Amino acid sequence: MREKLDLIQKEALDNIEKAGESNSLEEIRVKYLGKKGQLTQILRGMGKLAPEERPVVGQLANQVRQVIESKLTEKGREIEEIVLAKRLKEESIDVTLPGKKPSLGKLHPLTTVLNQITEIFLGMGFDVAEGPEIELDYYNFEALNIPKNHPARDTQDTFYINENILLRTHTSPTQIRTMEVQEPPIKIIVPGRVYRSDAVDATHSPIFHQIEGLVVDKNITMGDLKGVLDVFAKAIFGPKTRTRFRPHHFPFTEPSAEMDVSCVTCDGQGCRICSNTGWIEILGAGMVHPKVLEYGNIDPNEYTGFAFGMGLDRIVNQIYGIDDIRLLYENDIRFLSQF
Ligand code: DAH
Repeated sequence: MREKLDLIQKEALDNIEKAGESNSLEEIRVKYLGKKGQLTQILRGMGKLAPEERPVVGQLANQVRQVIESKLTEKGREIEEIVLAKRLKEESIDVTLPGKKPSLGKLHPLTTVLNQITEIFLGMGFDVAEGPEIELDYYNFEALNIPKNHPARDTQDTFYINENILLRTHTSPTQIRTMEVQEPPIKIIVPGRVYRSDAVDATHSPIFHQIEGLVVDKNITMGDLKGVLDVFAKAIFGPKTRTRFRPHHFPFTEPSAEMDVSCVTCDGQGCRICSNTGWIEILGAGMVHPKVLEYGNIDPNEYTGFAFGMGLDRIVNQIYGIDDIRLLYENDIRFLSQF
């Protein structure tokens, strides 16, 4: 019996010594100390021993159990330490390695310039208003003094959704929407997307951006219009910029004008960009037509106003020397990353 116990102990300790991971330690524990384990079997079979032998063998068996158990625990710790050390080594971070640069997004040039323009007008006391891109014929045309069958409708190739609903062709409808809900003094700009079913080329896109302006108060004159727009032009294109106003016609203003600025590229000397004229047309403007004030529920005998509308895309192209409007909409990262 003693020999058998000795053998079990020796064999168990041997196995434990060779064990590699905690899994096989558990197997060893079951093999010797488990319910059906070798040592347990011996303790169970003690009934068959002579009574005087029982306590001796019992004590011995318990010793063997303790030895095996403590060896198991010891080996378990050892293995744990090895595993931990290995993991720490694998997961260690070399903090001296150079980091990866996160690629940062940038503002689109349209957004950058719109932000600049907005700042300029906020500085002159304007508020920013917005209107819907899906618009009623009434606001886009009718209330801007462009009745059905008016020839001005033909110049704006309109995307109609149905007879009364369309994609706005300009930001001017927001003039009426603002006057309807706000009493003078009114001083707003309206940036936004507009739509026209033009054929796409270097200067035409079915979607582009305008910035509308509207000022309505007592005693507003053409002098206010010219002053505000000249300050604006110098702020956005540079202090040397000159402006000139040419008579024009828009149904919603009377009198109407177009404003040119001295060419940013050649400083007015004449170049390819300005077709050798030295001037670039950047906006339409005028004194708000009395009928338009009336559509906005404002009494034209008491108030006057001026309005203007400019194409943002063209201004962006001027500032950055971009010669094709399509580049602004293709989202080609090679193009965008230059700004
Ligand atoms: N809505 C005009 C267009 O899209 C631009 C315009 C011209 C707006 C004169 C105005 C204005 O407010 O007074 O062509």
